[in-house]
Amino acid sequence: MSEEIVIGKGLSLKETYEELLPQVEALLESSEPVISNLSNFVAAIFNTFEKISWAGFYLEKGGNLFLGPFQGNTACTVIKIGEGVCGTAAAEKETVIVENVAEFPGHIYCDANTKSEIVIPVVYGNELFGVLDLDSYEYSAFNKTDAEYLERLVNILTKKVNLNKQKLV
Ligand code: SME
Repeated sequence: MSEEIVIGKGLSLKETYEELLPQVEALLESSEPVISNLSNFVAAIFNTFEKISWAGFYLEKGGNLFLGPFQGNTACTVIKIGEGVCGTAAAEKETVIVENVAEFPGHIYCDANTKSEIVIPVVYGNELFGVLDLDSYEYSAFNKTDAEYLERLVNILTKKVNLNKQKLV
């Protein structure tokens, strides 16, 4: 199978996700390690959208979120559940869209140039596995369409890959 993600030019946001979805599904390999799947998953998303400056996972362990596979600049390694955008999405198990990070109380700056952000919780069984965090250097880069499709992508991930944290964090 090809690991290459090919997305047409000049597509709408929805059309872009519609092309991305089946390719991510094909990219994930249930028989391969979680870390390999998480790594390709974020790379596929990061490289599809120019608006994304950083894309990565934070993985839950003992009330904290630890930096997992990502694309972009070096980032904060530990975030407490309940703190920042990631910790809030993790605590509420709800997607959080932040149009202007300067207006989000307690936002954690890993990169001073970040302007907006979206965080999608990753829940496996009933347990919080971690979060998927996407950042942008543009204000209001993420909307409800992003939230809907990113949740669908995370859903594909949780269905296809046995998200066992044990050896990861
Ligand atoms: N801004 C996030 C921290 C993670 S970095 O953006 C990679 C937050 O407030 O949780």
